[in-house]
Amino acid sequence: MITISVCSFKGGTGKTSVSLNVGAALAKFHGKRVLMVDFDAQANLTAGLGFDPDNYDSLAAVLQENKQIEEVIIHTDHGGLDLIPADTWLERVEITGILASDRYSHEKLKKILEPLDYDIVIIDTPPSLCWLTESALIACDYALVCATPEFYSIKGLQRLSYFMHYISERHPFELLGVALSFWNPRGKSNENFLQVINDTFPGKELQTKIRRDIAVSEASIHGKPVFDTRPKSRAAEDLTGLAEELLNKMSSRFTCQSLTL
Ligand SMILES: Nc1ncnc2c1ncn2[C@@H]1O[C@H](COP(=O)(O)OP(=O)(O)OP(=O)(O)O)[C@@H](O)[C@H]1O
Ligand SMILES: [Mg+2]
Repeated sequence: MITISVCSFKGGTGKTSVSLNVGAALAKFHGKRVLMVDFDAQANLTAGLGFDPDNYDSLAAVLQENKQIEEVIIHTDHGGLDLIPADTWLERVEITGILASDRYSHEKLKKILEPLDYDIVIIDTPPSLCWLTESALIACDYALVCATPEFYSIKGLQRLSYFMHYISERHPFELLGVALSFWNPRGKSNENFLQVINDTFPGKELQTKIRRDIAVSEASIHGKPVFDTRPKSRAAEDLTGLAEELLNKMSSRFTCQSLTL
């Protein structure tokens, strides 16, 4: 099982859209058994897959030891794609109940996910360097950083890189790459942005860029991946390409896993 945490310091960088559609592509086109974890109290991933967060328990209930992990997993209609939804209880969950007195509370997510049997787990995190994001990075094998080609997003990369470095010293994980959404192939400052990405995370710029496409937000209104609503759109093409690129980057892990079976 490979766990990927999707993160950024700034909001609105495409984390949820990338998580949802890459996860769906890995299940639909590559036959992977995928678990999507919505680890953001905004619950956009949950709503984006067509589920009402008010009707389900989140990982907060499992972290507080009120539920077993199996009890909060939803089997979606998309073959091979399961979801652990989010709810508002995730917000500041670490300062309530039994977590409040647990010095190692940020290691709990990793322990909770460990016994599961999926090919890939994708964790969508909030846009801040908070307890939830720290827990997700501790739990992952790979981090996927999301950014947009604009000044504040690129500026946040440096802070994120320090945060990731600090965590990976004690809980090693690998940076899978930096995914750029809202990409304009003719953007005047593209070269400058790419330079900052390569200075901050050398060699980690992903080749597939996600262009701006209204099909992404349309799909979330329908509660479906973009391949189901607009299979011929630019977004569907880019997000399928991104899923393939990520799979190639992780291919050695899959090979190793099958060799040990
Ligand atoms: N490539 C794209 N083209 C056009 N719109 C997009 C694209 N990617 C995402 N969006 C839209 O932009 C908004 C923000 O995207 P998304 O929710 O994926 O970002 P996020 O990083 O998860 O945000 P947050 O930090 O709040 O969690 C959403 O309305 C989404 O539908
Ligand atoms: Mg989000």
